[in-house]
Amino acid sequence: MKTHTLLMPLDMHLHLRDGIMLENVAPLTAYSFSGAIVMPNLVPPVTTLEDVTAYKERIMAAVPNDFFEPYMTLFYKNYDKKFLASIVDDVTAIKLYPAGITTNSEGGVSSFDIQEMRETLEAMSTLGIPLCVHGETDGFVMDREAEFMTIYEALATNFPELKIIMEHITTKAAVDMLDKFDNLYATITVHHLLLILDDVVGGMMMPHNFCKPIAKRPEDLDALLSVALEAHPKVMFGSDSAPHPREKKESCGCAAGVFTAPIALQLLCEIFEQYDKLDNLQDFVSDNAQRIYGICPEFKEVTLEKRPFVVPESYSGVVPMYAGNTINWAIETVD
Ligand code: DOR
Ligand code: ZN
Repeated sequence: MKTHTLLMPLDMHLHLRDGIMLENVAPLTAYSFSGAIVMPNLVPPVTTLEDVTAYKERIMAAVPNDFFEPYMTLFYKNYDKKFLASIVDDVTAIKLYPAGITTNSEGGVSSFDIQEMRETLEAMSTLGIPLCVHGETDGFVMDREAEFMTIYEALATNFPELKIIMEHITTKAAVDMLDKFDNLYATITVHHLLLILDDVVGGMMMPHNFCKPIAKRPEDLDALLSVALEAHPKVMFGSDSAPHPREKKESCGCAAGVFTAPIALQLLCEIFEQYDKLDNLQDFVSDNAQRIYGICPEFKEVTLEKRPFVVPESYSGVVPMYAGNTINWAIETVD
C-alpha cells in the first residue's frame, strides 16, 4: 500500500466560527493539522485584544485532546501604532477584507487610500505583523481578483517591509504577481486546485462548490497548479475551509464557502501524486509557511495511505466538498 507522511501540516487560512459550529469543526482540523491561521470574521469581528484572547480560549476548549496551535488574527481597521504594539505578541497576522465582499465583511475597508492606511501599515511593517488580504474589488465577479492587482501593487510598493499575503488566489494574474514584488506571498486552497467555474454553475448548480473568490478558468487553474505543485517558496496551503450549516448552502441565497477541513490533506495527496510531485507537498503544506511566518509548530506526523475513502455526506450538519464521493487517499495515522 502506498503511503505518504507529512510533518506538522499547517492550514494558513481557516474559518473556525464560534459556538456549536466551532465545537463541531475545530476538532476536525486539530486532528490532522499542527496549527492554523484562524480568520477573524466572526459577528462581530475580532478587533480587540480581549476578543483575540477570549476567542483563542474558546478554540482551545473545543480541541481538548489534540495538540493544535490556533494562530490568531485581527480584523483589519486603521489601528494606531500604540494599539498594534500592545497586541503584537497575541496575533500572528491581521486580515483585511474589502467592505461587504464576502461573509461577515461588512465592517471591512471601504477606501484603499494609502495615506489613510499609512500609520497602520507602517506600524505593522515595523512590528513584523503580516497583512493577509482578501483581494477582490466589487467589479464583475470573474474580474474581481484581477482588478485587485493594482491595489496589491500600491500596497507592496508603498510598504516594502510589510509581508502581504494574497489570500486564496484563483487567477493567473495573482500568480504572476509573486515574482514581481519581494513582499507579496500567497495562499492557495485545495478546492481552487480542483475546480473551475463549470464545477460551480456549468451544469446543475453546485452550492457546496460556491465560494468567494469564485473558481475561475482552466488557464487560471493551470497557473495555480504550476506554483503549488512546485511548492513555489512564496506559496502556502490555506484551505479557506468555510463551514456553513447545510440550510445556508442549500437555499435561495447560498452562503459562500467550501468546507474542506476534514479532507484537505487527503485531496492534496491525491493531486500531488497525480502529477508525480508528492515530494513537494511537505513544502507546500508546512515548510514554506514556517519560513514565511517565522513559526515553529509542535511535532505532528500524519501518515496518509492511498486507498479509497468515501467522503461523509455531512459532518454535524455541514456538507463537505465531494460529499458522498470516493477520493483516493485516507488518513492512516496521526502521531
Ligand atoms: O467563500 C468564502 N467564505 N470566502 C470568504 O472569503 C469568506 C468565507 C466565509 O467566511 O464563509
Ligand atoms: Zn476565508
